[in-house]
Order: sequence, then structure tokens, then C-alpha cells
Amino acid sequence: MSTVADAIAALGRGELIHLPTETVYGLGARADDPTAVAKVFEAKGRPRFNPLIVHVASLEAAEAIGVFDDRARALAQAFWPGPLTLVVPVRDTQKVCDLARAGLDSVAIRVPSHPLARAILEGFAGGVVAPSANRSGRPSPTRFADALSETGGFVGASVDGGDCQVGLESSVVSLLGEVRYLRPGAVTRAEVEAVVGPLADDATEGHRSPGRLSLHYAPDAPVDINVQNPPGDCVYLAFGPVDKAVNFAGIILNLSPTGKLSEAAANLFAYLREADAHKPARICVAPIPSDGLGEAINDRLKRAAGFVG
Ligand code: TXA
Ligand code: MG
Repeated sequence: MSTVADAIAALGRGELIHLPTETVYGLGARADDPTAVAKVFEAKGRPRFNPLIVHVASLEAAEAIGVFDDRARALAQAFWPGPLTLVVPVRDTQKVCDLARAGLDSVAIRVPSHPLARAILEGFAGGVVAPSANRSGRPSPTRFADALSETGGFVGASVDGGDCQVGLESSVVSLLGEVRYLRPGAVTRAEVEAVVGPLADDATEGHRSPGRLSLHYAPDAPVDINVQNPPGDCVYLAFGPVDKAVNFAGIILNLSPTGKLSEAAANLFAYLREADAHKPARICVAPIPSDGLGEAINDRLKRAAGFVG
């Protein structure tokens, strides 16, 4: 286990770190150094170079990297520090190398709220790219031990920030032209609309967040979603009171016994891993309501089940 100072020093040397955030554990590298950023793709085993999120300590630091209009600033003021990523035109291409942006003239930026992430970013002073610290296609790590088992062999420093409180990656909102909700997360569509007004329809393929693979967040066992009556050979991820799962004698992990979406989000990836550890024929997941944070949970579940093309 490493200290904040170890992490700052490792970033300076162009090494990777485990960056604890409130959403998921990140695999961090300095954003201005293509050699450092290339190590991220190598460690994740990513099939292609997707654009990465640049993490900074403050809105001021963000404005040195990207161009913020009034809408972007209003969203940053409402939700930063916190689980919201803003896609804006890039201002300084030296601070965020081409590889980190996948050659785009826009950049995704967020200010995380986890106190250790903030301490690392304040101490390092530059932007840090950080995708989730899992190997490509697997569930994101939301516990320190999971980050270590996924990519521990690739990092120069690994900071233990405890269990991630949100448990799902940040919401991604684009401010290139009309405001678009590219990736659902803990900051809901309705919360974004409350700040910037009604959002443009984001259903068209061209406006999807680039690099979102169809089979993603996937454990080794096949995943079935919206299952009311689980078969005996599965591990069942329940939601709400378990007596709804009639005649099921197998292993049940309850995402939230009281039916709370925030609790289910925080447990989701860890429970997918835990279910997988039983090596079941399949993992079955109970229906989860799709309102509010449920949009993000169902988005990740559909990808874990391989349903999103
Ligand atoms: O919660 C999070 O966001 C975590 C933690 C570690 O901060 N990070 C994370 O990073 O989820 P990653 O690389 O898995 O997700 C980056 C997302 C992708 O959906 C990507 O397509 C989008 O941000 N993105 C990045 N740059 C973009 C750009 N210029 N335009 C549109 N989408 C962009
Ligand atoms: Mg990821």
C-alpha cells in the first residue's frame, strides 16, 4: 500500500497509479506524457485507444485544459467535486496529449470528490488520466483488493481509499453543441436538466460516447438480467426483499435488501465479482427500476449481459 506522496512521485516519474475515487478505482497516469498514457492502454489490455477522462483538482485547473462556456461552468459549479465528467473543446493540447484524447479536439474532464484523489491531484498539480482500473471488458474495481487483483502488477503506487461510495463510473455530459447525456451515472439526467434545461436526444449512434464496448463490465459467468424466478444453478443478485425470489435455494447476494438504488449501485460491481467467485453456470440479476440512478445501473447491467451494441 502506498501513500499520497508515493502516488504523486510515481506520477511524476511517468508511472501508473491506483487512484481511489468516489466512483470506482482509477488507473492513473500523467495526462501530458504519451509514454505514460500508453502504459494505461497496455495495462488494461484495451483493444483500441479510447479517449480518457482527465482528473484535476479544481474548476480553475479544468479551465486551463478545456474551454468552459456558461453551461459547462454552471454544471461544474453544481456537481464538482463529484461524479460528473464534462466533455468540452480542448484549450491546451500540451497539458493533455493526443493519445489521451484519442486525437479528438475535445477533452473529458472531472474533479473527483474522494479526499485522497483530491490530495493526489492537488499535490501533483497536473491533469491525471484515469480509466477504471480493471482489465478491459471486466467489472470496474470498487474495492481496493479488486484494483490490486486487476492491475496491481502495472502500478508504481497503489493508494487504498476504502470502498468506493458511488460504485458506478461518472456521468458523462457533452457540451459540444447541444448538451448531451453520453453516459448515465450518479448525476442523473434529471439533475443535469435542472441546471441546463431539457437535453438533446442522445439516442443516435453518432452521439454515443466513443469507445463504449458492447460487452463491458462483464464477469466470467454469463449474466441474465430482469430475472424474477432464478434457476437453481445460478448465483442470484436480488434487489429488495428476498422473499420475492420464490423457491430458490441457491446463493443470493442482495444488492439492496431495502430496495435503495444508491446502495445497489455501490454494491453492483463488487457483487458481480463475488458472484463470479462461486463459478456458477450463470449470474441472474433481479429487475432494477430504471428511474434516477437506475438508468445507470441498468446501463451497466445490459453491458455486462452483452445486450448493448
Ligand atoms: O468515474 C469515472 O469516470 C472513472 C473514474 C476512475 O474517474 N473513470 C472512467 O474512465 O470511467 P473511462 O476511461 O472508463 O471512461 C471514459 C468515458 C468513456 O465513455 C469515453 O468515451 C468518454 O469518457 N470520453 C472521454 N473523452 C471523450 C470525448 N472527447 N468525447 C466524448 N466522450 C469522451
Ligand atoms: Mg471502465
